[in-house]
This record gives sequence, C-alpha cells and structure tokens, in this order.
Amino acid sequence: MAASKSAAAPAAPAAAAKPGHNQETVTLIENSTGKKIELPVIGGTIGPKVIDIRKLYAQLGYFTYDPGFTSTGSCQSAITYIDGDEGVLLHRGYAIEDLAENSDFMEVCYLLLHGELPNPAQKAEFTKAITYHTMVHEQLQYLYRGFRRDAHPMAIMVGVVGALSAFYHDSTDINDPHQRMIASHRMIAKMPTIAAMAFKYSMGQPFVYPRNDLDYAANFLRMCFAVPCEEYKVSPVLAKAMDRIFILHADHEQNASTSTVRLSGSSGANPFACIAAGIASLWGPAHGGANEAVLKMLRTIGSKDKIPEYIKRAKNKDDSFRLMGFGHRVYKNYDPRAAVMRKSCHEVLDELGVKNEPLLELAMELERIALEDDYFVSKKLFPNVDFYSGIILQAMGFPTSMFTVLFALARTVGWVAQWNEMIEDPQQKIGRPRQLYNGATKRAYVPVTKRK
Ligand code: SDX
Repeated sequence: MAASKSAAAPAAPAAAAKPGHNQETVTLIENSTGKKIELPVIGGTIGPKVIDIRKLYAQLGYFTYDPGFTSTGSCQSAITYIDGDEGVLLHRGYAIEDLAENSDFMEVCYLLLHGELPNPAQKAEFTKAITYHTMVHEQLQYLYRGFRRDAHPMAIMVGVVGALSAFYHDSTDINDPHQRMIASHRMIAKMPTIAAMAFKYSMGQPFVYPRNDLDYAANFLRMCFAVPCEEYKVSPVLAKAMDRIFILHADHEQNASTSTVRLSGSSGANPFACIAAGIASLWGPAHGGANEAVLKMLRTIGSKDKIPEYIKRAKNKDDSFRLMGFGHRVYKNYDPRAAVMRKSCHEVLDELGVKNEPLLELAMELERIALEDDYFVSKKLFPNVDFYSGIILQAMGFPTSMFTVLFALARTVGWVAQWNEMIEDPQQKIGRPRQLYNGATKRAYVPVTKRK
C-alpha cells in the first residue's frame, strides 16, 4: 500500500526536565571516607521526583543496584502516568475510565501519538490513514505457510512482525520523522490483519482481507470470524466491546514490553524489529501472557469449592502456583482497567445471551475470597487488567492462544508512541546497564592436558 503522504509528525517531546540553577539536591555521604556528593533532584508534572544519578559513578565510583527496576526511572515521558497507590491511569492527562467510556481506539491512538485528542478533521484524516494501511504485502501470506498449523499465534506474530522490515524498507529511517510516522501508522494498521491471519491459519481457514468501510475493531472481528461461504455481520455491541478492550490495553508506562521496545530502539534498530521484540517480551505469563494463564488457572480450579485449596497454594512460598491476573508491580490498588473490564464482561455476556457463565462466576468468587484474605490485602494484590479480559475474549469466540495476540495488537500503539518519544528525546542514548560482578577474579589459562 503506498505510504500515506499526510502523516503528521509525532508529538513534540515535552520539554525534558533537567537540572538547573537553585537546583534541589540530595547529599550522598560515603561513611567510610566521609566523602560526599550532591545529586540533582528533578521533578515532573505529577508523581515522584527523581534523583539524577548520571554522574554518580564518575563522582563516587559506585553503580546503583536495582534488579527489576523497582525504584529506577529509565526515561522521561509525557505519554502515560500511573499512580499505583490510588489506582489512577492517565493517557496524556485523560483518565482511562473517561477514555473507555467516551472515546474510541482511533482517538486514543491519535492522543498517544500526538499528545492531544483530535478535532473532527484530524480524526477523519488519521482514521483514513490507518484504514488505508490495513492490507499487508501479498507475499506476507507465504510466511505463514512455513509454520505448523498448531503453532502458537504469538510465535507467528513475533516472526511475521519481525519480517515486516523486509517488506517496508521505505519507512525504516528512524531519523526521518515522516518515515517514523509512516512506520507507526503501518504497525497500528497492519497488526489486526496480521493477528487475524494468524488466527485463520491456526484454524485452516482462508485469510480474510480488511474492508475500508468498517471501523478498526469491526474490521478485525470480521477478518477473524468471516468465512467466504456467507456474509458476516459484525455485532455493534461486540465491536464496541472489542474497541474498548483495545483502549484498555493501549499503553501502560514503562512496562516490560515497552521497556524492551525502547531498549531495542535505543540502538537504532528499525521499528518493526523493535515491535517484534516487544511482542516477544509481552508473551511471558508474568506480563501479557497472564490473560491466557488466567483462563487456564480458572479451568484448573474448576469449581468454587476448590478455591480455598488454590488460595492456599498461591500463598505457599514453596509452591510456584500464583493467582494469575492478580498483583502488579505498580498498582497497589485495584487496576482501573480491571474494573472497566469486569463491567464489559457483563455487557458482552448479556449481549451474547450467556447466563451464569461458570468461569465468570468462579472468577468473581475467587476475587471476593482473595480480597478478604489478609495475604492478598497485606501484599496489596488486586485483580489486574488480565483477570477478566480472557472471559470476555472467550465469550467472543477467541481461543486462549489468541488472548495475548489481542493484547499485542492493542499495545502496538503504545509501543510506537513510546518508541517515537524515545527517539526524539535529546537526553536518550543507547541503553546499556552495568552490573554487580560476582564471578571469578583474573586467573591464568590452564591447558587441557594439565586439567584434572
Ligand atoms: C501485566 O508492568 C505493567 O504495567 C504490566 C501490565 C501492562 O499493561 O503492561 O499491567 C500488564 O503484565 C499485568 C500483570 C499480569 N501478570 C500476572 O497477573 C501474573 C501474576 N502476577 C505476578 O506474577 C506479579 O504480581 C507480577 C509479576 C505482576 C508483579 O510482580 P512483582 O512486582 O515483581 O512483585 P513480586 O513478584 O515481588 O510479588 C510481591 C509479593 C511476593 O511475595 P513476597 O516475596 O513479598 O513474600 O507478592 C506475592 C509474591 O510472592 N505475589 C503473589 C502474586 N503476585 C505477587 N502471590 C500470589 N499470587 C500472585 N499473583
């Protein structure tokens, strides 16, 4: 598909906060020598301030140590803000609940990429640009035929998205804002098509081409569920629910997969390779793979009378079992997305005429019991975005193997927005963490003939 000519440049990066005069500082004192240094403190618009440690090693000869980055900011960003204690999630200042209730995914994509909600003309132009990039190169379909039919769709997504850089060389110059936006539009537009093709391939059904007269979510549902033998009419309620699920998964600050995309992009890798790296990271059950793991967990628990046994296992340090869909690195309150997801659950099941869905009943009882249990309350383990999403997706006709694919589809806009912001940030450089070395000290080589 010809690259769109009307791509607006990505949002201008917020003025990066940096140390200045009458600078706030913290003092670090090396007790063994009494040596002390001043480290600048930088504040953002909301949320915790940061201690700028960029000169720490040069001034004091120490690295910091923070596996998992629980207390480490990797960048400055103006895209998403999370207050984990209050259960707040803002995209460019707009609360996720407001966006889920009043907006649609195309608007949220524009907002994440450009920093403001679009006016009617901007929205129409952006939606058209995305719509006219939804087809994939006709040869891409032959890539699918190299996979076994029972290949996990996420394996196909990693492979096919990574291969896009072999098809779209005209949008891989990361220093050209116009090419970056074309690549961003291509990623957002083509992910539903690529995801639907992975689903169709796994079922042995023919691929379905996108339609330009359908909106983003409806187009995706039709590419997944239509067959050549009959007309497929998309349910407006299911399309709205799909669109809302995309909004809830669009971006989430510096989570594992977004950090993977940023780190890959910091070396200058092309956008398609960076997004493929993000998909690989999202696949993990501790991250985006949790929605698939929640359904498997609920099926394993099977009935309400088994819940106490599994709650006990989840609390047992020697047992690897965890309550999937519970807990979060940042949220120490109810994940606001989970609340919206639970509400959507009831709407979708009602629309589908599904009464007393056993998995939903089981999930709600599990949530009730867990949130009364001191272990979960004291550790602030609440349901997260993945706890209810699988129940909706299953009711819509998706197999569990497609759940994380849908998460990746929706998160693509967040990944490309963060990737653009990283490239435009004057303070960013190639990501290259250091380490605390605890291996062997220097020793002489011993020829094999002299080894015991
Ligand atoms: C996503 O980062 C993001 O923003 C991610 C995400 C996004 O939109 O990008 O929000 C999407 O990935 C949501 C999370 C989906 N993952 C799961 O639901 C998997 C189950 N949850 C856990 O694996 C865990 O809660 C994490 C991975 C989500 C968070 O892990 P942390 O922050 O490293 O916390 P931790 O593992 O250190 O747990 C803290 C304590 C531990 O006990 P102690 O060692 O302190 O005694 O809580 C316990 C854990 O054992 N714990 C759980 C638990 N989660 C944490 N115990 C039982 N069941 C759980 N689910």
